This record gives sequence, C-alpha cells and structure tokens, in this order.
Amino acid sequence: MNISITKSTSSNLSKVDFDNLPFGRIFSDHMFVCDYADGSWQQPRIIPFQNFDMHPASMVLHYGQAIFEGMKASKSLDGRPMFFRPELHAERLNISARRICMPEFPEELFLDAIHQLVGLDSAWIPPKEGSALYIRPTMVATDEFIGVKPSSRYRFFIFTCPVGPYYSKPVRLWADTHYIRAAEGGTGFAKYAGNYGATLLPAQLAMEKGYDQIMWLDAKEFKYIQECGTMNIMFVIDGKVLTPPLYDTILDGVTRKSALEILRSEGYEVEEKRITIGEVVTAYENGTLQEAFGVGTAAVVSHASAIGYKDLVMELPPASEQKVGAFIKATIDGLRSGKVEDKWGWVVPVGQEAAVAV
Ligand code: COI
Repeated sequence: MNISITKSTSSNLSKVDFDNLPFGRIFSDHMFVCDYADGSWQQPRIIPFQNFDMHPASMVLHYGQAIFEGMKASKSLDGRPMFFRPELHAERLNISARRICMPEFPEELFLDAIHQLVGLDSAWIPPKEGSALYIRPTMVATDEFIGVKPSSRYRFFIFTCPVGPYYSKPVRLWADTHYIRAAEGGTGFAKYAGNYGATLLPAQLAMEKGYDQIMWLDAKEFKYIQECGTMNIMFVIDGKVLTPPLYDTILDGVTRKSALEILRSEGYEVEEKRITIGEVVTAYENGTLQEAFGVGTAAVVSHASAIGYKDLVMELPPASEQKVGAFIKATIDGLRSGKVEDKWGWVVPVGQEAAVAV
C-alpha cells in the first residue's frame, strides 16, 4: 500500500533546544495515521502532526483497548539516521494486538511507515550520543459504542519525539508486597496501556517512600521478581548475570533480548531463571549482589542505587562500579552511534523519503 504524504508547511524544529531535551514532551513535525474499518486497513498517510477529533463514545476511552510500542532512531557519528531492530517492534505490536483483541497491523507497512516518517523528520534526530528520536507507534479503538465488546474500528498512528535519557540518575527500586502489575493469564507480556495505568497509584506510593520505580513481584506469592514496568530487570550475583525468563507476566523487551545476546557473545555467564526476592536478599547479605539494573528502550540501562523490600534497604555499589550494566549501555549506545561494529546486523539505515507526495 502506498503511503500518501502531506508535508507540514511550517516546522517547529528551530524552537528545539537539543542540549536540553525532556523525555516525551516535544513532538516532531509529522505523524503517520492509518484507520481500520470494514474489516481492513484503509489508506495509510503521513500528515502534519496534529490533534485528533474524538467522539465521546470512542471505545478506547471506555474500555481501554490501546496498545503501543516504544522504539528509537539515532544518528551515526557521520550523520546517518538508523533504527535499532525495528522488525522486533513490528512483531511485538501484533503480539499485543492479538491479546487485546485488536487487528494486526501489516508488519511490512509498519516498517515502511517508520522509514518514511523518520526519513521525512530526520533533522529531528538529536545528534548527541545517548539522545534519540523516540518513536511511539500506537493503536486505539475508535468505534462509537458503549457496549463491552471488541471495537470494529481502530486508528493506528505513529509520532516521534526527540528525547534525552528517561532516567537521569540511578533508580531506587521498591519490591512491593501488596500491589501487583501482572498475573498469570493476564496482559503483562503485552505493551498494553492498561498495564501502565494500573501501576500509577502503587508507583506514587513508592515515590512517597523515597523510591523511583517498583520492582514487581509475582501476583501469587510475592516471591518471584518480574520486571519494573518501564524496563526489564537484570542482576549480577557472584559474577553471573541473572534475569527472569520470559513468561506471560513479563514484556519481551528488545533491550533485554539484545543485552542477553551481547553478553553471551562476549563470554559472560548469563542465566534466565526465576529469581526470588529472598535470593537477592541473601546475595546482599553475603556480599555477592554486585549489580542490579533495568533495561528498556526508553531507559536503555538504568542502574539501581538501592532496592527496598519490607524493612530492608539494600544499597547497591555506585553506578561507576556496576561494570556489566555499563558495558551493555556502552555497547548499545555505541551500536546506535556506529562506534561499535554491528556484528549482529541490528542497525538498519533509515530509508529516504518516498517520492509519492500529495
Ligand atoms: C519504552 O521503553 O519504550 C517504554 O515504552 C517504557 C515507558 C516509557 C512506557
């Protein structure tokens, strides 16, 4: 399907301070939109970034059929715009779509859309290493109806934001023993808006205790570590890198997957295994808890400075001593900037703007 393009007649680019980028508050000039109706995806289009009109009965506003992706484009040191493993995001969107009973979006069209959109707005990609153009593909239910059933109409859209780091300093994590993020059979593995909305109150309560994020435990026994909601979690205990295995309560993070592949190919000892909070406490008490860090597209690698559990506060070594996390971050940032050789073939050059313009 050809994507039609209507270019913006005025750009906001000159207003952006690329040295001071907040996360997710600045939006570039264009967006991609495609509607689903009558059982199929309609004409895909790139248009100037703009608001949507919404009917008050739009189903997403009532029953929350909303899924999204988070991915990044960056510039190599010689100025070439690049994506990082974009096909994994196209695939994962459809994993989420199936779980939330939404139509799949054709993966080829997803990839064509990001190439053309980011090609058109490539001047919005921040040049500094560690900054990027964050890409937010999203799908919402648009049928105007308040009965509880899957919508028959949807809007898929993609917009982009130049961003700096999501966390500007190491995070303090709280292992909660009352609230849960995901239960077996639920939606934890999907990038589903409701997974995020449900964590806002517990996260706020954790912040009141002096923490930045929750490190979620399983919903049955509050024993097994899951993930942090904005990122997957990894530990280094006694020289070994550990992370919980994928399950229906854990998002299949692209950064998690990449970090594991990088570590294994560099000869690190890595294990995907169920990790109990008790094991982490024991490792802390016997001095073998060397690192804990979150990995995610927005966060890249965020070191934990402390983990709170019940009455115990486990203080971790300073970020400068958390070498494995720092190595993963340097490798992923380096792949994105072209400093590190891409022996895995993960970096994909952004295609040029298409000739079809309306
Ligand atoms: C991402 O890492 O891209 C996320 O979606 C996490 C968060 C910003 C919601």
